[in-house]
Amino acid sequence: MRLTHPALTGVVDLDVDGPVISRHLYGHFAEHLGRCIYGGFWVGEDSDVPNTAGLRDDVVAALRALAVPNLRWPGGCFADEYHWLNGVGPREQRPTMVNTHWGDVVEDNSFGSHEFLHLCELLGADPYVAGNVGSGTVAEMSDWVEYLTRSGDAPMSRLRQLHGRDEPWRIPFWGVGNEPWGCGGHMTDEQYARLAAQFATYCRDHDGNRLYRIAAGPHRDDYAWTETLMRSVAALGGRRHERGAPWQALSFHYYTLGGSPQKAGSATRFDVDDYHRTMVDAWRMDEIVAGHSRVMDAYDPHAEIGLVCDEWGTWWQVEEGTNPGFLFQQNALRDALVAGVHLDVFHAHARRLVMANLAQTVNVLQAVLLTDGPDLVLTPTYHVFAMNKGHQDATSHPVHVTADDARHESGAGSYRTLTTSVSSHTDASGTGTALVSLTNLDVERPATVTLDLRGRAWTVGAATLLTAPTLQAHNTAADPRAVAPVAFDGARREGTSLVVDLPPHAFATVELALAPA
Ligand code: AHR
Repeated sequence: MRLTHPALTGVVDLDVDGPVISRHLYGHFAEHLGRCIYGGFWVGEDSDVPNTAGLRDDVVAALRALAVPNLRWPGGCFADEYHWLNGVGPREQRPTMVNTHWGDVVEDNSFGSHEFLHLCELLGADPYVAGNVGSGTVAEMSDWVEYLTRSGDAPMSRLRQLHGRDEPWRIPFWGVGNEPWGCGGHMTDEQYARLAAQFATYCRDHDGNRLYRIAAGPHRDDYAWTETLMRSVAALGGRRHERGAPWQALSFHYYTLGGSPQKAGSATRFDVDDYHRTMVDAWRMDEIVAGHSRVMDAYDPHAEIGLVCDEWGTWWQVEEGTNPGFLFQQNALRDALVAGVHLDVFHAHARRLVMANLAQTVNVLQAVLLTDGPDLVLTPTYHVFAMNKGHQDATSHPVHVTADDARHESGAGSYRTLTTSVSSHTDASGTGTALVSLTNLDVERPATVTLDLRGRAWTVGAATLLTAPTLQAHNTAADPRAVAPVAFDGARREGTSLVVDLPPHAFATVELALAPA
């Protein structure tokens, strides 16, 4: 019999620490694609849009409020046709190029390394630079690392100084190519494994900079690719990888396409069956992270090699009248709920999963921000990232589910409709805060989550709700708060349990104050 009111019950031990949820699971991605860089981040110094050295002030302020931990650049597919030397030096002298992947437009290289790293400084975000393996050379990549990170009078450091920057930057994250199985060169796994080791070897640690080199891993659930990379790194480094691995992590990409890889649907004109297919697809992230982790565990039992999902998000048809190569799509409540599911999945896999990057920050795919000339809109997905900010670098506390009847079953598929995660920060005095995130994917029915919180004294603090009358609701310049967070009164304490009554299709967070253990 179908219950009218789905419920999930579980136990959470606040005094038992799970893995730390790296803040880098909340990373973002900015490619030279459509209006992400140009118009999104960069308007140029002469623009009427308020800017700091060409970078939009409103975009920077909105992203600072999210505490963006890292930003991946310059692609994506673009990374493998990007030649960094064309993007440094006086702007008016920089050569142009054709962006063959995205809209076949001419790129004038006015946004290059210096502009990107200035952006990261303004955001307070760590740079994640993706190097060119597909059409670049080992020497070109090696020089770029030297240019960015070496001080003194080495040849590339001198060139950087000539271009106005004396001190090197700190670059923590370095990508060794992108999607080598596709736009990055159509390679086999064996071919790429060799190249990744070769390119990564020459990405040197200069001065005090320590690169965390990320090899380009598989598409979706291609576990064989992961296996080849792990076998190759094990051959070089044995079981303790810090001693011999040329790269420190491998990445994979997974997009939520709503059930059909051939034909993406509309971001805002979809029916309930489309919604169900989307959620089935969103939940596949859990199975895919678990699958790659299993393969990695077999070669790396100490989890020294990180798993990175440096492209994720929904991928819909472009908005009518826009360039098909620009991947500009609206962002509805449905997208926010997909983000709620994915972030819970990432928290659950925090032992192995060290970084994730939503694609892409502004005006492309599942963007957190949309711009139109001087206007800026915060999307529903933005609000999920803002509400979940407290999970960054927090200690996770697994939810031991004791009962869960919240499932959707139909011809469109079957999936869990309730998901939750809990983490905490504790200061030296022993007091702290916990954050509980909850997503109810059910289209029509409210739901109740009951968590028996053990091991610490706690009280319920502020709670916030994100929902809207329809799944298709979205924000525009004319109606920027159609989907926006509001104070929520659905959370209460009953005995030792936190009880949260969620409305249908909603995302919520509840803060708890924790007393010393
Ligand atoms: O994010 C858009 C594109 O999707 C990226 O350039 C590529 O890596 C992926 O296929």
